[in-house]
Amino acid sequence: MKFATLLIYMFAASVATAADTNSIYRGGPSSPSATTRQGWIDLDKNGRKDIYEDPSQPVAKRVDDLLKRMTLAEKIGQLWQSAMAKDSDRKLAEKLKAGGVSSFLDGSALIETPVMRNKLQHIAVEQSRLGIPLIFGHDSIHGFRTVFPIPLAQACAWEPELFERTQTISARESAAAGIDWVFSPMVDLARDPRWGRIAEGFGEDPWLGALDAAASVRGFQGTNCADTNRVVACLKHYVGYGAAEGGRDYNTTEISEFTLRNYYLPQFKAGVDAGAWTLMSAFNELSGMPASANRHTLTEILRNEWKFPGFVVSDWESVSELIDHGVAADNAEAARLGLTAGVDMEMVSTTYADTLKQQVEQGTVPKKVLDEAVRRVLTVKFEKGLFDHPFTDGNAFKTALLQPDAIDLAREAAAKSCVLLKNENSVLPLSPHAKKLALIGPFAEDAEEMAGPWSSRAHTNDIVSLADAVRAQLPFDFQLVVARGCSIIDSGKIRRHLESFSPIKEIPTGTNEIARAVEAAQSADEIILTLGEPRDWSGEDASRSDLGLPGRQMELFNAIVATGKPVIVVLFNGRPLAIPQIQKKAAAILEAWFPGIQGGNGVAEVLFGVADPAGRLTTTFPRSVGQVPMYYNHLNTGRPGIGEYKGNYADGPNDPLYPFGFGLAYTTFGFGKVQLAAPTMKLGGTITASLQLTNTGVRAGTEVAQLYLRDVAASGGPRPVRELKGFQKILLQPGESRDVSFTISGNELGYYDVKGNWLVEPGKFQLWIAKDSASGEPVEFELKK
Ligand code: NOJ
Repeated sequence: MKFATLLIYMFAASVATAADTNSIYRGGPSSPSATTRQGWIDLDKNGRKDIYEDPSQPVAKRVDDLLKRMTLAEKIGQLWQSAMAKDSDRKLAEKLKAGGVSSFLDGSALIETPVMRNKLQHIAVEQSRLGIPLIFGHDSIHGFRTVFPIPLAQACAWEPELFERTQTISARESAAAGIDWVFSPMVDLARDPRWGRIAEGFGEDPWLGALDAAASVRGFQGTNCADTNRVVACLKHYVGYGAAEGGRDYNTTEISEFTLRNYYLPQFKAGVDAGAWTLMSAFNELSGMPASANRHTLTEILRNEWKFPGFVVSDWESVSELIDHGVAADNAEAARLGLTAGVDMEMVSTTYADTLKQQVEQGTVPKKVLDEAVRRVLTVKFEKGLFDHPFTDGNAFKTALLQPDAIDLAREAAAKSCVLLKNENSVLPLSPHAKKLALIGPFAEDAEEMAGPWSSRAHTNDIVSLADAVRAQLPFDFQLVVARGCSIIDSGKIRRHLESFSPIKEIPTGTNEIARAVEAAQSADEIILTLGEPRDWSGEDASRSDLGLPGRQMELFNAIVATGKPVIVVLFNGRPLAIPQIQKKAAAILEAWFPGIQGGNGVAEVLFGVADPAGRLTTTFPRSVGQVPMYYNHLNTGRPGIGEYKGNYADGPNDPLYPFGFGLAYTTFGFGKVQLAAPTMKLGGTITASLQLTNTGVRAGTEVAQLYLRDVAASGGPRPVRELKGFQKILLQPGESRDVSFTISGNELGYYDVKGNWLVEPGKFQLWIAKDSASGEPVEFELKK
C-alpha cells in the first residue's frame, strides 16, 4: 500500500474509533455488528407491533400502513438522499432523528467498512419516530474491492453471463461493506468515443446491450435483492445521456422518438424487465426537456407503458440543475418539475426538502404525487428487507473482500475482454523459443492505471501490473527488460485524485528515456509496447477532443518501430482510439482496455497463448476524430455508395478503422454458405438460418458467429443497414467444423414506430451470419402474412 493510501485508511479508522467513544451518533444500541433489527422496539409507542413492522405481511400492505402514519415532513424526508455524513455533523444527526433523510450516498472512504453505516442506521431505526431504515447507495460500477475490467471491456467478451458473474461478486463485496444499493449498471448506448463515459457502458448495440443490462441486474439483485449478499440495482442514466453533443459530458441531446425507442431505450426496458428496482434520471437535456424533468420518459414510458414498480433517483443535483438548464426559475419550480415528472428521490440537492411542504400545503404539488413517490421508495426499502434487517454484519467485510473466486474471475474477465486487432505473421502468441523480451511503455509497470475509472475501492497493492504478471509467467532462462520510454501524458500536471488512490504527479518523460527504450528493444527478441490514455480521461466529466495517444507516446512508438523489429502493441484505454498509424506499422495490436486488478495476469495469459483472444469489439474504432459519431447500425442514405455523389469525405475514407464485432483469434475460421430452412417465413412463425463454421488454422480457437438482419422496406420508419440479432461463441479444435444455426422469430424482426408501437411487417429481409458487422454476404427471405 502506498504511503498516501495508507494515510487515508488510517484517517478513516481513526474517525471511526473516535466516533465509537464520543460521537453524536452514539445513540441506540452501540453494537455495529447487529445483523437484525434490535428486537421489535415499538417506535411509535402504541404498544403493538404495527402492520408495517410485521415481516409476515405483504409489502403493499406494509407500505400502506406506514404511509398512513407518516407526517408530511416525514414523507418528504423519504425523498432525499444525502451525501455521506461526516461524523461531526450534528445538524444531520438531528435531521435523521426527525426522519428527514432517506438515503446516504457514499462519497468518502468512511464506508470501506459498515461501521459508519450502522451508526447512521441505528439513529434512523431507533431514534426516529417511525424507525424507517436508511438505504445506502454506492457506485460499484465494475467491482468493489475486486475491480473487474471496465464494463466496455467486459462487453467485448460477448458473454452476458460474465456480467452476471462479476456483478454477483461486486454485490457480495458491496453488501458486506454496508451497501444496499449500487448505481449500476450504466446502460447508456454510446456512439461517440469522445464521451468519457463510453467506458462505463456496453457499447453501441442496443440488442447486445439489453442482454448485458439484464445480466447485470441479475448479478446484483439475484432472485431476491433482500438476500444479504445482494444489492438493489440502478439503471442509469435515464435517458439519452450518451448522445451528448460533441461528446462533452452533461451536454444537450436531441433524440427523435423513433431513435429513442429503437436505440436508447431497449437496454433500460431489458433492465426493468429483469426486475431492476431503481433507475437514475440523467443530467442531459433531452429533446426539449431535461431528462430529470421529462414526464414523457419518466412517467408515460417508464411507469405507464413499462409498469416499472420501483423508484427513480435523480443524478447528483440534477433536480436543482433544472434551474441552470433554464426550465425552472427557482428551487420550488425545480422540485415541482422533478417530482411531477417522475423523479422520486433527489440526490444531494435539497429542492424537495426545502420547498415541497409548502407546495403540497398550497396545492401546487398534488399530495397524491408526493404519496406515490414515497410509496415507491418505501416499497424498495421493504423489498430490500431493510425494515427487517437494517444493519450490516460488522465483521463480514473482513472475509468477503478479494475472495479467491473473485480474483480468479477478475483474471478470467481480463483475458476474455481482450480484443486482438492485428496479428501480422502470427507474432502472437509470444514464441516459447524467444530468450529476451522487452516490455516497454508507460503502462508496463503501472498498476493503478489498470483499475480504470470508477474503482474507488481498489487498493494499489491488490493490482497486478503487466510487468509483474509477465515476470511471473516467464521461464527461468528468459530475460525481461522493462523500459518506460515515456510518461502517459507528459504534461507534468497532477492527475486528478481519484478516490482511494494517491494523487499522482505525472513524471514527465526524462532525457534519453526514449533512447533507453530503443536500446532495450534492440537487444530483445520480442517487443511488447504498452500504450494508451490515462484512466482519469475516462469516466465522468472526462471527455476528449482528440482520439490519438497523448504525450510523447507516438514518438516512442515510431522510435521503437524504427528498430525494424516487429512491435506488439498492447493498448490500455477506456474508449475507441483513432490510431491509423499504429494499425499500419505495429505487427500486432491487443486491445486490453482498463482490465482491472488482475489485468496484468489476464493480458499476459493472452500474450503467452495460455488464454484465447476471444473478445470482439462492441464499439466501432474510427480512423479519425472527424468521423465520429460512428456506428455500424446506421441508416442507409438515399445515395449509398453508388455514383459520384456518395457523401464521402474529401480527405479520407468513410469506413472505420475497426468495425463493430471485429476481433481476431490465434487461428483462422472459415464461414460456409448461409442456408435458410425455407425461402419464406410465416408471420407468427420462425425461420432457421445456418452455416458450417470451420477452424482452418493449426491452433484451437474461439469464434463469435454473429447474426445480422435488415428489414429492407419498413413502413414505420427506415431500418438500419444491419442489426445484430444473435451470436454464438464457439470453441473449435484445429480442423474441426460445427453447424451453427439461428432460429429467428418476430422478436428479431420487429421495431418500434414513432408512437411506440411494435411492428413486425411482412416483406423482404436480408440476413448475414458473419465474423463482424462489415463481413459476409446476405441471403434473403420473405416474411409472409
Ligand atoms: C454522478 C454520476 O453521473 C452518476 O453516474 C453517479 O452514480 C452519481 N454521480 C453518484 O456518484
